[in-house]
Amino acid sequence: MWRASVLTIFPDMFPGLLGISLAGKALDTRVWALETVDIRAHATDKHRSVDDTPAGGGPGMVMRADILAHAIDSVPPIGRPRLLMSPRGVPLTQERVAALAKGQGAIIVCGRFEGVDERVIAARGLDEVSIGDYVLSGGELAAMALIDACVRLLPGVVGQSTSIVEESFAEGLLEYPQYTRPAVFERLPIPEVLTSGDHGKVAQWRRAEAERLTRERRPDLSAAYLRRQNRTTDG
Ligand code: ADE
Repeated sequence: MWRASVLTIFPDMFPGLLGISLAGKALDTRVWALETVDIRAHATDKHRSVDDTPAGGGPGMVMRADILAHAIDSVPPIGRPRLLMSPRGVPLTQERVAALAKGQGAIIVCGRFEGVDERVIAARGLDEVSIGDYVLSGGELAAMALIDACVRLLPGVVGQSTSIVEESFAEGLLEYPQYTRPAVFERLPIPEVLTSGDHGKVAQWRRAEAERLTRERRPDLSAAYLRRQNRTTDG
């Protein structure tokens, strides 16, 4: 079973939205398992503090290496990567999500405060992962995003139909626009080609629209897509 172990000072935040909808159903039916480890339970002083002031001065607090290491060591590592959610990490991609979903699960440390003592990151081999170039108050929301993205790829969680989104993303394109009834909404009709019944024309239109949206919104993805296309047409 795919297993997520989440280390956090806010275990009450879980399962949170992972307990609802697709992920929640899959959690109930034991397609995956969620375990939280309260980092504070591994504190040693009477105030149960897990952080301290940064060496060298400066604002904020830093999560202590010894407490976090003790919490990490309470989770058997058997075949699962140890991740640290952090805005400083390598950006998460669908490719990385797919690789994680194929494995046995993940041990996920949620950072809080201004950071985590660098020595525990090295000593426990934590792989820093970011979910985007913005700063959250802590790693918990980021961990939920990562887990949700993985769980929906587990066998039987999502129906066959939604694989379209993955396919277009895997090809490096954003998804084409979708329409459904009513035929006219606030004087806006559905594009004629989609009701023509010509499957070839529909496919052509969707590809062109996906390419246009990708060019307009994600020049980085568009450039990579065009480079790949040239490579395959060049042979
Ligand atoms: N913690 C705070 N901000 C984050 C981000 N953008 N990604 C992952 N973890 C975070």
